[in-house]
Parts: sequence; structure tokens; C-alpha cells
Amino acid sequence: MRVAVVFSIFLTIRVANTISDKFFPPDFVFGVSTSAYQIEGAWNLSGKGESMLDYLSHTYPNSITDRSNGDIACDSYHKIDEDIEMLKHLGVNFYRFSLSWSRILPTGSIEGGVNLAGVKYYSDMLDKLKAAKIDAMVTLVHFDVPIGFIKEKMFRTEKLNQMFVDYARLAFNLFGDRVKYWLTINEPAGFSKDEMRTFYTDRGRDVYLTAHNIIKCHAAIYHLYNKEFREQQGGKLSIALNTDWYEPASDSKEDIEAAERALMFEFGWIAHPLIYGDYPEIMKKAIASSPSPLRLPVFTYEEKETIKDTVDFIALNHYSSFLTTNDPNKDVDRTFDKDIGILKTLDPSWETTILDWLHVAPSGMRKVLNWINKTYGNKPILITENGYVEGGTLKDDRRINYLQTYLSSVLDAIYIDNINVIGYSTWSLMDNWELYSGYSAKFGLYYVNFTSPNRERIAKDSVGFYKNVLESRHLVNNRNAGNHV
Ligand SMILES: *[C@@H]1O[C@H](CO)[C@@H](O)[C@H](O)[C@H]1NC(C)=O
Ligand SMILES: *[C@@H]1O[C@H](CO)[C@@H](O)[C@H](O)[C@H]1NC(C)=O
Ligand SMILES: *[C@@H]1O[C@H](CO)[C@@H](O)[C@H](O)[C@H]1NC(C)=O
Repeated sequence: MRVAVVFSIFLTIRVANTISDKFFPPDFVFGVSTSAYQIEGAWNLSGKGESMLDYLSHTYPNSITDRSNGDIACDSYHKIDEDIEMLKHLGVNFYRFSLSWSRILPTGSIEGGVNLAGVKYYSDMLDKLKAAKIDAMVTLVHFDVPIGFIKEKMFRTEKLNQMFVDYARLAFNLFGDRVKYWLTINEPAGFSKDEMRTFYTDRGRDVYLTAHNIIKCHAAIYHLYNKEFREQQGGKLSIALNTDWYEPASDSKEDIEAAERALMFEFGWIAHPLIYGDYPEIMKKAIASSPSPLRLPVFTYEEKETIKDTVDFIALNHYSSFLTTNDPNKDVDRTFDKDIGILKTLDPSWETTILDWLHVAPSGMRKVLNWINKTYGNKPILITENGYVEGGTLKDDRRINYLQTYLSSVLDAIYIDNINVIGYSTWSLMDNWELYSGYSAKFGLYYVNFTSPNRERIAKDSVGFYKNVLESRHLVNNRNAGNHV
């Protein structure tokens, strides 16, 4: 008996680690992701205006792990051709990149004038992608809002909204004929909570105001696209939402509720209004029972009608998981974290990485896809970010392992759970300026030599792996496929 039990546990673990031998469906699309500030450099060249990330990295260098900035980054502003060669080598169906708002509109507003050099940069990129038969997925704002957004505290007012809509209209007019997928903004939850944190005067309130305005901007842009551009341009529009997977740490009612609350505060915060027209009840209740219950803004009836049902597909950025327990002291403070009211721990079986928020927990991918399908109906889901971090190596077998196991979890969601996952993009095409981690956290399939003025790109082993997966549309027998160029 004893032997049999041990054997069956062994078998369970083996099964859990098995890589799916299914093929990705014929219309499933693969890509790689980047963002403007994190790769372009040329922060003050050719007429570009100052963005929030220029200001943050120059003014608060101590908030960045290695005190670095994106002044030069990967110098992609001068390296379109090299970047496109890498995309062609990988064989991606699409490239997800972002526009720098302040490169196109240096002051942020149309009245401040359009910077033609900036327009030409993106226009050339789109032409070259088209020539290479690579679809464009374009994020309008990937954290780098124009500096006025900060200096005039626009995140607290609706002054921002018209500016954002004007910028979107300009982008649709200039580029929309060559863009298949639009994302209005990257990770509004992460942006409101983390990237903006330095600039808040009242964090427990400003965090909600920022997201509230972003939700309204997104909806206005969605309706603009429908009214003026969709018929002619035929693209799809969404917003890239981030969430980890939160697994209840026990079977207790409190822990199960804590995990659901965490998902609602991270994903539902934005998804619920844009799909159902209002914040999740769980979130409203949690804030209402805090010592400062009126911090979550309220949508009017008209606003609810305007914001609901404004995504063509769900765009998901997912990296990691946490075990979740209820925080018994959650109602003592008016901070976002106390509003969520959870304590996070790690499953010891999850491999850790150099970043404290990223663990290798591939089953979380399948679980989060199931949760999204259950909570928001079976809308198509496109995974717009997922990736692995290391400190600098070309032999990145841990990344290959991460990609292979997470992609296997995607296949399980497709074939076992029947979830409508339509595509996958890894973060990132190449090492880049990783926000508060600077250059110390490397997510690239390609290594970038940041000490060299030429910023040479060198393929890591994962380039060969990802290329083989895209070619074979299959995850098995693709390891040890190192392919340095
Ligand atoms: C641009 O910024 C760099 C620092 O990154 C500085 O050395 C250079 O003088 C600036 N150029 C212009 C034209 O302002
Ligand atoms: C996915 O969502 C659809 C529509 O709500 C539902 O019918 C189906 O059962 C869901 N699938 C899973 C695995 O939750
Ligand atoms: C990076 O560039 C520097 C300077 O050109 C060079 O000395 C170094 O060997 C390069 N590193 C790699 C990994 O190629």
C-alpha cells in the first residue's frame, strides 16, 4: 500500500509537469512585445517632448534600482531595421510596440503641434512591418504619458480625457490603415498603483481617481474608433490588463474570498467597468467598509452606459501567482493594499527569480484564463505579455522552461477547458529599461549590450526555442534549440 501511494503521488506530479503535445490552432497568433520608452532612447532628439518616465528617471533616480534611465535604452529609434530583422528571424505573426505620445505631440496636445519626425518614425516602422508581413499591435500609452499629465495633476481631473481622445484620433488617422490591433493603455491597474505612486499627494484616493479617468478615456476612444474608423480600417481595440493568479492558501471561506477579492482589485477594477459598466461589488464593499469609505469614484448612469462593453477582446498580461490569505488587519488604514486586504505567500514548489513579484507558476496561467472566462464570459483572450526575468545570460534555459510550461498551460486551457485564447505575445523582444528595475532585470529573447555604444543585439538560446515553436506550432522537442545570430 505504502509503495502504491508513493507511486501515485509521483505520477500526479509527473502528469502536472507534462508538456502538452497538442498543436496550437491554425489561427492562433504569436508575437513579441516592447514599449516605446523602454527601447527607443532618443529621449530629447528630433523634437520629442518630455514624458512622465523621462521626468521620473531624471528627477527621482533613487527610485530606480540601478539609478538608470531610458535616455538611450536599446536605441531602437535608430535601429528599426535591426529590430525588424529580429522579428523576421523569429517568424512572429505580430509585433506589439507602443507609440510615444510626446514624440508625436511634444506638449501632449494637438494645439502644441505635431512633430513630423516622430510621425515618420512610426510610419516607417509600420511600412516595414507590412513589407515583412508582420501585423502591428499598437499600444497608445505604455506608461509614458506627457509630462503635463503629472505637472498639472491631470490624472485627478477630466482635462486629460479630451487630450487623450485627440491623440487617439490623430494616431488612428495617421497609422490606422496599417494597424490590426489597438490597445489604448497598458496595465492601467499597474500604472495607477505603481508607476504613478511617486506623484500622488493622497495615495489612497488618487490611485482610484487615476484609474477612473483612464476607464472613461478608454471608453471614449472605443466609441471614437467605432464611429469614425472601424468600418474603413477594420482593426480590433482593447486595453492590456494585468493580473497575477491568486490561489487561496487554504480551503477556508476567508481565504477563498481573499483570493477572489485580489483578482477583483487587480483585474476586475478595470475589466468590470469596461465589460459590465461598473466596479465589482466586492471592490465597492471592501472600500465602503474601510476607515475612509468614499474614495472610490462613482459612475453616473450615463457613464455606465458609455463605458460598458468597450473591448473587442480581452488583452491579458500575466506573469506570476501568489497564495492568498485574508489579512485580519485589513480595515485599519485607507491604502489600496489594505482595501484589498490580503496577505501573499509563495508555494515552495514555485521557482523564484531575481524579482520578488515573479515566480514560475505555470498552472496559474490556465487558472487565470478559466477565471476570466467564468467571470467575463467567453470573449476571445489574447495574452499580450508573459515572460521570464534573469540578470544577464545568453544560456537562458530557465526562460525556455518558463515559456514552454506557460505555453503548455495555455494549450490546456484551449484543449481541455475550451477557453477561447486567440494569441500569445512574450515580454520581451529584447532586454530593455525595465521601469523601477532599470537594466538589472532582463526579459529579452535577445540580449542587448548596454555598455556598447552600438547596443548590439545577441540572440539568447530562447530565440531558437521560440522560433521553433512558432514554426512547428508545437511545444515538444524544441529544447536545446540554441540559435545564435
Ligand atoms: C539630450 O540629453 C542628453 C542626456 O541624455 C544630453 O547629453 C544632451 O545634451 C541632450 N541633447 C539636447 C539636444 O538637449
Ligand atoms: C466559458 O464561458 C462560457 C460562457 O460564459 C461558458 O459557457 C463556459 O462554460 C466557460 N468555460 C469554462 C471552462 O469555464
Ligand atoms: C559589450 O560591449 C563591450 C564594449 O563594446 C564589449 O567589451 C563586450 O565584450 C560586449 N559584451 C558582449 C556580451 O558582447
